[in-house]
Amino acid sequence: MQASLSTSSAATASQGDASGPQEVRDRIALCCSHTEAATWELGLRAALPHATISAWPHTDEQAECAIVWSPTQAFMDAHPRLRIIFNMGAGVDALMKLRLPPQARIVRIEDGGMAVQMAEYVSHAVLRHFREFDRYEASAASGAWAPRKPPIRSDFPVGVMGLGALGKRVAWSLAQFDFPVFGWSQSPKTIDGVTCLSGADEFDRFLSETRILVCMLPLTPATQGILSHASLSQLKPGGYLINVARGAHLVEEDLLRLIDEGHLAGATLDVTQEEPLPPGHAFWRRPEIVLTPHIAAQTVVREAIAQIATKVSAGLESPTLSGVVDLGKGY
Ligand code: GLV
Repeated sequence: MQASLSTSSAATASQGDASGPQEVRDRIALCCSHTEAATWELGLRAALPHATISAWPHTDEQAECAIVWSPTQAFMDAHPRLRIIFNMGAGVDALMKLRLPPQARIVRIEDGGMAVQMAEYVSHAVLRHFREFDRYEASAASGAWAPRKPPIRSDFPVGVMGLGALGKRVAWSLAQFDFPVFGWSQSPKTIDGVTCLSGADEFDRFLSETRILVCMLPLTPATQGILSHASLSQLKPGGYLINVARGAHLVEEDLLRLIDEGHLAGATLDVTQEEPLPPGHAFWRRPEIVLTPHIAAQTVVREAIAQIATKVSAGLESPTLSGVVDLGKGY
């Protein structure tokens, strides 16, 4: 992969030379820590034929624009002129840990095909728990035809924490199944069919109204460890946690303790403190915990490239630029 990146970067650099001197802003540095790097590079080159795209570690140190996923500090230090850093995903927590050039703004992917995936994943987890499909699977596995009493929907209010583009879509989707749905966010929001609460003052009320809690918060110093004994014990008895945000939101031993104490029925976790989840981790042995390997919503590369290319083409100082991260808030 590394060889193919440097070869194609060299090819683009010479294209740039052939078409004459190039605006510095058209030089884009690409840095991603996963295996899609080559796909991104090819896609970006097709979407932005006038730009020179170079991939880390063969990047142009004059670049004012970067497109990244989990870049290293070395990448940031090598590009002091960056004015805009496009994040290939929705969560920017990995970027917020780095020292960025002081003038740089971060722009995250807005929806980009992820909201519908989140809605699918969370609806599936809520419905699987509510309709007791895990029990029917166990009955079927043991050859038992064992109907159970239908659950009562009003006994399963769902609370969605974090009402950004993805959280809104999830809350709205759950409301379509007629669950009582509560939403909680830092600033007030309005969503059809959802009782929206906000701020620290309404947090305890939000928790006490909720039986199935869905975490979709950005990870910031203020939200790290927010899913703790103190918060989860306020859920209605038989509470259930769905975490599709970041593993660091959850105090893992508090979840196990609340399941053992019988206050929580279980959890669906797409994210964990350590990823991949180590083989000996207690979560693997808990039948009440459904685990998936951080796949709830994956960046749809084609849509993400189209979104970034549109923003790059509009100009780095475009007044209509959206998806800009508030560096003070961290999301
Ligand atoms: C995935 O976790 C993302 O932040 O896009």
